[in-house]
Amino acid sequence: MCPLETAVSPNTLNYNFIKQMKVIIRPDSASASVWTARYIAKRINEKAAVSSKPFVIGLCTGSTPIETYAELIRMVKAGEVSFKNVISFNMDEYVGLPESHPESYHSFMHKYLFDHIDEPAENIHILNGNAPDPEKECADYEKAIVEAGGFDLFLGGIGEDGHIAFNEPFSSLESRTRVVTLTQDTREVNSRFFDNDFNKVPKQAMSVGVATVLSAKEVIIMAYGSKKARAIRDAVEGPMSHYCTVSALQAHPAGFIVCDENAVGELKVNSYRYFKAVEAAENL
Ligand code: PGA
Repeated sequence: MCPLETAVSPNTLNYNFIKQMKVIIRPDSASASVWTARYIAKRINEKAAVSSKPFVIGLCTGSTPIETYAELIRMVKAGEVSFKNVISFNMDEYVGLPESHPESYHSFMHKYLFDHIDEPAENIHILNGNAPDPEKECADYEKAIVEAGGFDLFLGGIGEDGHIAFNEPFSSLESRTRVVTLTQDTREVNSRFFDNDFNKVPKQAMSVGVATVLSAKEVIIMAYGSKKARAIRDAVEGPMSHYCTVSALQAHPAGFIVCDENAVGELKVNSYRYFKAVEAAENL
């Protein structure tokens, strides 16, 4: 049975209007983040109106989601959305970094989102990068996602090399949650959070797989800045390939890539015009 049927009646909540990857282009990261936060809130509210089942969301860390989280916090405080019936699963966590470390994804999520919204603590799931049995931790995570009803929406960023979660180039597009080895490139990019010391960046992480992300009914990937332009070009115009794991979104029926103008700087003019036309026609 398709996850849509298990979660809500297709007659009352319509996801079927999306049949292809859509690229939403906004002038800057602030307006792109507001678009993303409002879209998520709209989906949470739509489900709450027709079902008592929780809204299950995949969440990410990094610089990219910070403004989206700020807008969601504002909306929760203004009473425009509530996370009381939301269950979240974060996409990844470093292996071996204490949870209390300021750069752990546990710390990040509490600082930028969970400490400011009304999501119950028991609904928050983040992989335990210090689990005594890492394989079991990853397998249990996949089970917990299924038991929660599967993802309604997965929110992610994109690496400069096109990774989605920590699915580095050459990760299987069928991958599920597992321990991964980070590439030198990713560790160098992330060293900015570790006193610019590459050696302080953990070598491994636990990450949901590409297939875990794509199991969501909807996927929103955010990309801001010219550093992401090559990855966006490969994801949107390139072949679907394990070399740019976010390109797997091409096979998803309801994938959004939300960009600022700089992140689409490498797209062909025709592609850019096409996605702007879709946006305008569908009032996105
Ligand atoms: P960033 O990271 O948001 O800090 O650019 C995104 C990612 O690596 O997936």
